[in-house]
Amino acid sequence: MIFEQVATGGCQSYLVGCSDTRVAALIDPEISQIDHYIALAARDGLRIRYLIDTHTHADHFSATRQLARQMGVPVVMHRASSALFVDMRIGDGEMVIVGKLRLQAIHTPGHTRDSMCLLVEDRLFTGDTLLIGATGRTDLPSGDPEALYDSLFDRLLRLDPDLKVFPAHDYKGHQSSTIGQEMATNPRLQKRDRAAFVEMMQNLNLSMPTHVTEALRTNLSGGKSVAQLLTEAAARVPFMSLDELKARVEAADEDLTILDVREREAYESGHIPGARLLPRGQLELRVNQELPDPTRLILACCELGYISTLAASTLREMGFLHTVALDGGMKGWREAGYPLTQGREA
Ligand SMILES: [Fe+2]
Repeated sequence: MIFEQVATGGCQSYLVGCSDTRVAALIDPEISQIDHYIALAARDGLRIRYLIDTHTHADHFSATRQLARQMGVPVVMHRASSALFVDMRIGDGEMVIVGKLRLQAIHTPGHTRDSMCLLVEDRLFTGDTLLIGATGRTDLPSGDPEALYDSLFDRLLRLDPDLKVFPAHDYKGHQSSTIGQEMATNPRLQKRDRAAFVEMMQNLNLSMPTHVTEALRTNLSGGKSVAQLLTEAAARVPFMSLDELKARVEAADEDLTILDVREREAYESGHIPGARLLPRGQLELRVNQELPDPTRLILACCELGYISTLAASTLREMGFLHTVALDGGMKGWREAGYPLTQGREA
């Protein structure tokens, strides 16, 4: 078995490949590591054939949907998943065949209704059902402490104690554990009585993970997160530095149109000398009047640099092929003490 573990800010993903046939499955990929997974697979001479989410993640952004589009391979989840884009739903006891490897699904609801663990040779990928020194929480949508009790005590803890445990999360830098080790030392597994376990799970008083709404929305629909939209826009747009722009403003560069895409109030309180106002919300509908020459160099600026990146990307898509965005935004411009004009432009 070829095995790679990728840790990102507490998330753990796994690339599991067959050394004979060079095909692989990627388990619980995270959106910021897409290039990393593809590079690892290439380095190991593997072709990824399945993208598997052990459950609907509420605390990070799954990369399965995007990788599936990019690579043309199926997304696999448990049949209880309500994610719209799953290509292959599997049930308890069923297997995904990856070359000579058999990845067997064990349905382990509790953290979420659609949680499953994957058993492959001497390894168990436990998702968020069993973590090292902890368990998944049961207070997020579709969580159920009673179900988690059954999944842990009636299913996972009855497996071979020597099985290696690889969870979907670890915040303490552990790489793996074993079923036996967890039984002996995991504080959450010491309450073997159902009622005591359920009571403990109901009283953990954990804070909500950041981005929970956005993570559930995008992970269930396959839609994009705000960060993804911005990253994609930024990849399509060149940027201009504050210093370069200042030099061009001072040289009264006639080839440059500075387009301030903030709202009128912000624009009038202080803009780059010569900048024209075209709020982002009106951009598409007013370009024909405001920007008749698509060959001109257009620089979009906004307060922080995010909205102007989206605006510049939209303009490029519309055929304004010489559009750039200001790196650093008006905030950076003001902080650098560069010149500002108040009110409207003459
Ligand atoms: Fe989770």
